[in-house]
Amino acid sequence: MAIVLGFETSCDETAVSVVEVGAKAPRIIVERVASQADLHAAYGGVVPELAAREHLKTLPLILDQVLSHSAECATLDAVAVTSGPGLKGCLLMGVGFARAYALQRHLPLLCVNHIEGHLHAARLAAADCRYPYLALVVSGGHTELIHVRALGDYECVARTIDDAAGEAFDKSASLLGLPYPGGPNLARLADSIAPENARAYNFQLPKVMREAEGFSFSGLKTAIALLVKREGRRLLEETERRAALAFVVQEAIVEALIFKLKGALRASRLSRVVVTGGVAANRFLRERVSELPEAQVYFPDFRHCQDNASMIALVGGERFLAGETSGFDAPVSARWAVESCGVPRSRIEAYV
Ligand code: KG4
Ligand code: ZN
Repeated sequence: MAIVLGFETSCDETAVSVVEVGAKAPRIIVERVASQADLHAAYGGVVPELAAREHLKTLPLILDQVLSHSAECATLDAVAVTSGPGLKGCLLMGVGFARAYALQRHLPLLCVNHIEGHLHAARLAAADCRYPYLALVVSGGHTELIHVRALGDYECVARTIDDAAGEAFDKSASLLGLPYPGGPNLARLADSIAPENARAYNFQLPKVMREAEGFSFSGLKTAIALLVKREGRRLLEETERRAALAFVVQEAIVEALIFKLKGALRASRLSRVVVTGGVAANRFLRERVSELPEAQVYFPDFRHCQDNASMIALVGGERFLAGETSGFDAPVSARWAVESCGVPRSRIEAYV
């Protein structure tokens, strides 16, 4: 077993966790997340330079809180940190900080892929979530269907060719005049109206990318922009009308995800599905995925759908227990496909 300190700073959440890894189920000893949502709200989106500076300010404060949580936090075995993909300046802050801390404490360092963290986040709460499974990763920057065979053994079945699902939520929210963070605000508005009342407005949006390979949300964005323009002031003045449009937007995004998920599930013959990433917090998506008759479905806890350091500590810890460490000169990769993470060498030897 290993007690691992995890850091996550790839976008606009500064997160630090201590997790015990290697027993039947991971045990979160302490976790803290400081959201920068208020800081970026004034700009309507994440400002990378401000985000990086805020990480630098916040990291020592929450590390101090985490380390003083209990005596266990003084017996660390390894440090794990997100080193990509994400905003370069933000990643550099986290990796520089984690590296310095690990060096000072003479601890091994594990650089972890952020999406790999999301792939395993459901296992933080569900010990029965075993390999293999089909993971639908839906976050602000990524929409991917990944066949997860084992730690590091991933095959990408489909990914978005333009916007990610979270981006589709955020851009639609912005077109509807909703404040940042768009996704949860649009979801809240959509959930505030009864489906039959929403449908009475008869808003029509195209069914997204049914035939095309992979996900695509840019056509939907254009359709929403045209609808918003046609509606004009009525949308601003009539709350229920705005809620009805939010409802059909949410439905269109979620149904597009469900359509592809169903197809991939049928083709892969897998029986377990994990839906993960920020958009996995969406109540309507969770309901629709849970209705899939042919699969056992797992979601991370709500707090582990958004970016967090516990999922990074989990992956870093399991890689550490498999004999892996990253050099202190390991690079930061703003772009890093999850399928290239690779299986830890000791696990490959166990395969043959
Ligand atoms: O995984 P995440 O926290 O950060 C990235 O790695 O991108 O995902 C953030 C994304 C944002 O686009 C946000 O609007 C979306 O997840 N999101 C939601 C909800 N909560 C967060 N989208 C729809 N409904 C939600 N309830
Ligand atoms: Zn994320």
